[in-house]
Amino acid sequence: MDEITNVFAGLSQSVANAHPRNDSDYINPNDELLYCGVCHTPKQCRVPFRGNMYVQFCICSCEAKRIEAEREALHQQQLNAEICHLKSLSGMTRQQLSECNFEKYGVTADNEKPLKICRKYVDNFGIMLEKNQGLLFWGDVGTGKTFSAECIANALLDSGVPVVMTSFAKLLGRDKGFGVDEDFIAELNRAKLLIIDDLGAERNTDFALEKVYNIIDSRYSAGLPMILTTNLDLNEIQQCKDIRYQRVYERILEVCYPVKFEGKSHRKREAKDRFAEMRELFEA
Ligand SMILES: Nc1ncnc2c1ncn2[C@@H]1O[C@H](COP(=O)(O)OP(=O)(O)OP(=O)(O)O)[C@@H](O)[C@H]1O
Ligand SMILES: [Mg+2]
Ligand SMILES: [Zn+2]
Repeated sequence: MDEITNVFAGLSQSVANAHPRNDSDYINPNDELLYCGVCHTPKQCRVPFRGNMYVQFCICSCEAKRIEAEREALHQQQLNAEICHLKSLSGMTRQQLSECNFEKYGVTADNEKPLKICRKYVDNFGIMLEKNQGLLFWGDVGTGKTFSAECIANALLDSGVPVVMTSFAKLLGRDKGFGVDEDFIAELNRAKLLIIDDLGAERNTDFALEKVYNIIDSRYSAGLPMILTTNLDLNEIQQCKDIRYQRVYERILEVCYPVKFEGKSHRKREAKDRFAEMRELFEA
């Protein structure tokens, strides 16, 4: 045997060693090859090599399925670890991560439309990313803007998309006294989707406005989408006369599709339920 033939025989032997013969395996009299006693597919085959036919070991069908399942389980394990890691970087609390998802979305006549948009946004996130398309959730207090944004964040995180959720107040608080934190802004842009809660709730100083502009503009320049929530009225945003705000709002309106949240405050309803529950407890 020359060297190549040796390697060839060695390879076949290593497959045989990796998948040893089981007691139920048998030689099929039709082709005189070894068959698996479980799935009844061959564990050997004949291959031509340099003018001769050689019997080689191969993998039977049930073994191939087992290997594939093992590979899939490993892949899933790696994906889960990656998702855990992304969640730890998302800026969301444990409660936000576990309690705000589409399965728990209480549907009312008022939020049916925004819910549909949120689901479509998630389902089409590839296109949203490509087009740098974001959303602007606007409407009165307690109408579910933050909750809906959290649902989008969780749905995307669960499919392995890096999302960071924060608020303008947090971003500005973090920056106090440290000058322009370019590194931090760059860090935010590692997220495929950035969600910033409560535009307009930050202190409206020139310093804060400049920071807000920097954050939005860097996102815009990086061609990455963002979702913003705000209590500001869309008319107010569109027709703002103050040049300092206009600069910020124009950028936002260019890349964020406005979604109106209406109806009664969920928070009021929750408070009412809580009050009723406590009255029952204290006064019964
Ligand atoms: N569709 C929903 N299903 C279940 N709970 C909801 C839903 N929408 C809102 N909530 C709950 O109602 C409360 C208020 O909602 P949320 O904080 O999202 O309102 P918001 O519009 O962001 O208010 P704000 O303008 O004050 O920031 C939260 O406790 C939230 O979890
Ligand atoms: Mg909110
Ligand atoms: Zn088999």
